[in-house]
Amino acid sequence: MDIGTVMNTMRDPAGIPAPVELFRILMIATWVFHIAFVVLALGAASLAIYAFWRREQSPYWTGISIAMTKVAKVSVSLLIVLGVAPLLFTQVIYDPQWYASNVLSARWAIAFIFTLIVAYCLWFAFYYGNKEVAKRHIGFYAVIALLLFLLDGLIMHVLSYQAILPGQWMGWYAPNGELDMSGAHLHAMQWPRYLFIISLSAPAVGFYLIAYDDYLKRRRDQNPDYLAFARRLGQRIAQYGLIVSLALFVWWQFDNPASTGLVWLPGGWAVAAALAVLLFEVTYFRDRLHGYLFLAGGMVMLLLLAIWREVIRVAYLAPFGYSVVDEKVNADWPSLALFFLTVAGIGGLVGGFYLTLLYRAGRVEGVYQADRTMSAMGTGAIVILGIWTGVFFLYGIAIWASNALTY
Ligand code: HEM
Repeated sequence: MDIGTVMNTMRDPAGIPAPVELFRILMIATWVFHIAFVVLALGAASLAIYAFWRREQSPYWTGISIAMTKVAKVSVSLLIVLGVAPLLFTQVIYDPQWYASNVLSARWAIAFIFTLIVAYCLWFAFYYGNKEVAKRHIGFYAVIALLLFLLDGLIMHVLSYQAILPGQWMGWYAPNGELDMSGAHLHAMQWPRYLFIISLSAPAVGFYLIAYDDYLKRRRDQNPDYLAFARRLGQRIAQYGLIVSLALFVWWQFDNPASTGLVWLPGGWAVAAALAVLLFEVTYFRDRLHGYLFLAGGMVMLLLLAIWREVIRVAYLAPFGYSVVDEKVNADWPSLALFFLTVAGIGGLVGGFYLTLLYRAGRVEGVYQADRTMSAMGTGAIVILGIWTGVFFLYGIAIWASNALTY
């Protein structure tokens, strides 16, 4: 039996509950948010460590180190939460590939969770110790945490990459005809792809610092010289980082096998063009453009990258006769409606309430007083949560009751 038939046989016979393109769009879109916080976390963590070792030279470095330690702390929690959505969508439409890849490197897939827990605990130890006066040894906790985060990124990359190489699965599962069920190996890496994605940490933290200046500069308790220092630092990091990212991206483009026909497809070069535009802007318009525009530009670039990753996946799997378009659809419209209403209500109103509150509270000195709009949003968020919980239980009870009556 050839591997294409195996993959098609491994599809869930129950089919999927909505048109496949909907899942594909959701998978791509949600991954953008995951990877945005991955690169921000890695960039902020690296800068927090660098600034930590330079703190004797200027109090500004101390300020940067403490601030970036907090940014990395929050970003790691967000990257984990936001990783769940693309993981679920990948498992819905690319389950045979994701499953095979995880089983082939099972020990690493499990180690991923433990190393992430250890790394995050170490980062918290660094965060608690990283004050105006800090013990030097806590810097080592941070370095180990960062190395473990990078290892986790590598494991994620390997799992993603092995999933699109079905032609090699049998060779990894039974090398020389001998079964190897240990799951002890990371079988395939594409270094330019991994390094490129990781390199985006530099522009991510660079843009963040520019926006940090724009966000805080209207507060009278902030030192303008410190903010100007942060902005200049951000511009430099973003500029050099983008040059490195661009070079790594070109390497990745030409590393794709010619047989896939990917090298000259415009989709990949659109990512390169977005990087070049960002580089141009940060070089020539760094003081004229608002920091939020750089962040928005970075998100557009990540969206193009997310689409490009999907084009790559389709191109690698096509020769095996596998396409998600052939997925059987067994539509379940009520669940779908519940899903989108949850996204709009809980994500939009409750999430929107928290985000707006945090954004506004951070921009004032001292105690923040919510205005009428914020209190209305707060009340709305509680009402929506109540309705959502009620509908959740009612829907479940209704399904259970109708099943009980039918059988
Ligand atoms: C420090 C922790 C993490 C890092 C550094 C990291 C990094 C990455 C990177 C670099 C990729 C892209 C790989 C590639 O395209 O070659 C990726 C993909 C992905 N990550 Fe993460 N990640 C982390 C944690 C997580 C967690 C906790 C989840 C799930 C809850 C998650 C879910 C995903 C998913 C679903 C993909 C896409 C897989 C695919 O399309 O095949 N990640 N991650």
